[in-house]
Amino acid sequence: FLIEKGAFRHFMAKEMHEQPEVVAHTLAHYLDMANETVQLPELPFDFAKLERISIAACGTAYYAGLIAKYWFERYARLPVEIDVASEFRYREAPLPANGLAIVISQSGETADTLASLRYAGQEKQHLLAVVNVPTSTIAREAHAVLPTLAGPEIGVASTKAFTCQLATLAALAVAAGRARGAISAEEERALVHALVEVPRLMNRALDLGPDIEHLARSFAKTKDVLYLGRGTSFPLAMEGALKLKEISYIHAEGYAAGELKHGPIALIDENMPVVVIAPHDAVFEKTMSNMQEVAARGGRVILITDEAGAKHAALETEATLVLPDMNPFITPLVYAIPVQLLAYHTAVAMGTDVDQPRNLAKSVTVE
Ligand code: AGP
Repeated sequence: FLIEKGAFRHFMAKEMHEQPEVVAHTLAHYLDMANETVQLPELPFDFAKLERISIAACGTAYYAGLIAKYWFERYARLPVEIDVASEFRYREAPLPANGLAIVISQSGETADTLASLRYAGQEKQHLLAVVNVPTSTIAREAHAVLPTLAGPEIGVASTKAFTCQLATLAALAVAAGRARGAISAEEERALVHALVEVPRLMNRALDLGPDIEHLARSFAKTKDVLYLGRGTSFPLAMEGALKLKEISYIHAEGYAAGELKHGPIALIDENMPVVVIAPHDAVFEKTMSNMQEVAARGGRVILITDEAGAKHAALETEATLVLPDMNPFITPLVYAIPVQLLAYHTAVAMGTDVDQPRNLAKSVTVE
């Protein structure tokens, strides 16, 4: 155990720092880097003929699926419905003829996710699994498997499995876009080019570690944290809140920034940090106006953005974490890192058991 942790204090730290490498490895498996095209193994269905995708997963894998929904709809013009597996398996949803069910799981053993796969099988869906453990039950029962090449993940809080799930699903969404004629060859090249950049950008994100460690000291004293984002930054906000809850035991919630005024704004006071995830993308200005609403009520704003965003954010923040500018397609993969680091350093500052948080199991094989 100790030897495997190497120079790191926790498996979670080691696994966060492995991300540039394992994501590069996963991308290399699904992309033709030289020609900047996707190159997936042959799949037993035709994207062009699919009516709909249904995704089921739990926890962090569910948030990866939610990000993928934005990608499939935007780049492949393919409708996606998504549910947490514990709901999907029981709600008897009618599934279309020529539908594809995708389950996403690190362990490949999560009971509700496996049951969702079986339900979709009974409903005659094509069954695709995105899994990290290739010998798992889910991998065995699906019609096709896209492995995430994250390597063994020991920390209970999922980090590198999540970003490898995103890398795999991003490649799949581009492949779907190409098969459906929703993107041109040129657009495909631009999207693949952006994916190829991810490992380098992840290293830049890891460089924010010392700043985040400093910020985490004040986080360790708070009771509640709100995470806000729009577009693919919305699921990432929920993932950030989950990560913080799991390992620091601080209550946190992730919200779509546009929902702020429909309720959570009542919570804002000078004690509650609000983490705003806002790359300079098409919805940046909208998120900024939500951030202004927080600041106007004395809220403590922590902004995670890029260079262009930092330039345009006309507002004082408690802290601004600045990443390089990048194609909006890939932001969830890179922004995942500061979000994970914030949870990690907060937990370390509080002295919790980061790799084995209370009440949690790495793999939930019972209902
Ligand atoms: C993530 O940090 C969690 N520990 C948890 O939500 C996890 O993602 C979930 O239990 C799903 O597990 P799986 O990917 O092995 O199916």
